[in-house]
Amino acid sequence: MCGIVGYIGSKNIKTILLEGLKELEYRGYDSAGIAIMQDDDLHIFKAVGKLDNLQEKTKEYEPQGFGVGIGHTRWATHGKPTELNAHPHMGEYSYVVHNGIIENFKEIKEELKERDFVSQTDTETIVHLFEEYLKKYENPQEAFHKTIERLEGAYAILLITKAEPYKIFFAKKGSPLIVGRDGSEIYFASSDAPLIGHAKEVHYLEDGEWGVAKAGNIELFKGNTPIPPKFQKLSINKELAQKGGFRFFMEKEIYEQSDVITETMMGRICDDGIDFDELDHEFLHNISNITICACGTSFHAGLSGSYLIEQLAKIPVRTEIASEFRYKKPVLQKETLFVVISQSGETADTLEALKMAKDAGLKTLAICNVDNSSIVRLADRSILTRAGIEKGVASTKAFTTQLMVLWMLSVYLAQQNSSLAPKEIEEEIHAMSTTPKALKVRQEMHERIKRLSKRYLHGHGFFYIGRDIFYPLALEGALKLKEISYLHAEGYPAGEMKHGPIALADPELFTIALMSKNKLYEKTKNNVEELSARDATICAISSQEFDLADDFIKINDWNHFMLEYYEMAVVLQLLAMEIAIRLGNDVDMPRNLAKSVTVE
Ligand code: M6R
Repeated sequence: MCGIVGYIGSKNIKTILLEGLKELEYRGYDSAGIAIMQDDDLHIFKAVGKLDNLQEKTKEYEPQGFGVGIGHTRWATHGKPTELNAHPHMGEYSYVVHNGIIENFKEIKEELKERDFVSQTDTETIVHLFEEYLKKYENPQEAFHKTIERLEGAYAILLITKAEPYKIFFAKKGSPLIVGRDGSEIYFASSDAPLIGHAKEVHYLEDGEWGVAKAGNIELFKGNTPIPPKFQKLSINKELAQKGGFRFFMEKEIYEQSDVITETMMGRICDDGIDFDELDHEFLHNISNITICACGTSFHAGLSGSYLIEQLAKIPVRTEIASEFRYKKPVLQKETLFVVISQSGETADTLEALKMAKDAGLKTLAICNVDNSSIVRLADRSILTRAGIEKGVASTKAFTTQLMVLWMLSVYLAQQNSSLAPKEIEEEIHAMSTTPKALKVRQEMHERIKRLSKRYLHGHGFFYIGRDIFYPLALEGALKLKEISYLHAEGYPAGEMKHGPIALADPELFTIALMSKNKLYEKTKNNVEELSARDATICAISSQEFDLADDFIKINDWNHFMLEYYEMAVVLQLLAMEIAIRLGNDVDMPRNLAKSVTVE
């Protein structure tokens, strides 16, 4: 995910900005840039790839004395990772860095079409809009306020302008931004790490806050009202700061899901439907069926997606494990849309399967988290999941965002072939917009799972069971547990237990039962009762009270099965993590596993 830094002061501004960006490297990025203003002189540097490339570009430049500067690491969402698309973006005399997504950028760009746009990004509209307002209002502060009032979506913004060369204008809505100070030195960053060792005290901006800073002075506003910053001491260490105060990156990533899912949806959903810039009628013309191909967690997202596409868009879907698909001599037909799913975009088996589909002349679509990865480059079209870098080997936020793309894709396809009525589409959109709530980790829920986990550290195995789309979720829950706790776990369709696995039932067999209120509740309940009657230990996850459960994790009473799905996904991730932590395992780097499997 993108990172932001800013500085006003007399220390070596180039070093402060570059070192600040270095602290944000862990978040992942594909290009970076800085802009420094000293009196009326503006120096801007951008580079694709690692920060070393940016450093190299700046080596001839040595700033002297006071300066104002902004910097950015970019994780591509709108437009490829190129120098033109890297931040800072410039107007005629102003420069901006931005995290988040401006949802109405196309509309603004259309209005400003007389201006010279050079990038494919949503961010560039901010700086052009600012300069247009400045022509009208002649006051940079007012122009900045008018600019942010026009923006829809999420943003953390820093803007500098030759119209007021000693200031930084800043604003926050939906993306994090912190302003810090040490005497007259002013610092900005999108997370704590770059501020440690520099700013003595910091103010964490709230959504809707904006302002203007100059040496020794920060003016803060909410709407038109000036407000005092709430400064607090910055005392945490760097490692903790990178993990956002969480014990593991996996934990941080579980907590992040509620925010990143909004980024996945941004610009793609509106009140009456789904719109993908990445797709069009022409591309999907003549497609009669879909094959989804992936590995591991991405496969589980794909399998879940197959239920959604069939149920909502009424298009036949088959889901294939990439390592199997490659060698099964599959029958490939031209009217099949071939969809690959991958967090990293580098998984060897998935990449090879994609090559086979392309060679056979199929239309291909990648759902991926990393722009410019091998899979994105090879596929005809790609939809980015926008989850930001995922560091934990056990995938969490990549999974939930992949599924969101598949859910949106199902509705998009349903719109194309009219398999859903407008009212039904509206219901899906409403449920999608509620997903951030379902993914939010509730403290009391986390505490309960933490306590309960101590009962599940032994036994002769776990069965995760569910029906319909909750079956692939059961597979994913079991995979999470296996990967980080090293305990044996299997995902199974609840209705299939009686065809064999029920023979294993005894008190040492732990059953994690996903009991959706909205999908086959009574049927699942019967299956769980059969296991309980044979003394299996049952941990039920449901919104409906269930007396036979030995442990019960109550989720919210949602009226759409996907909201239950998302909340249960969080429960399963937390359960696996808490068990693994109790067993003393390295949750972020479990034994024998690699984050990206680039070999067969
Ligand atoms: O990068 P990909 O999504 O293609 O990776 C696929 C699998 O290797 C990956 O999902 C793996 O199963 C994870 N460790 C799951 O947590």
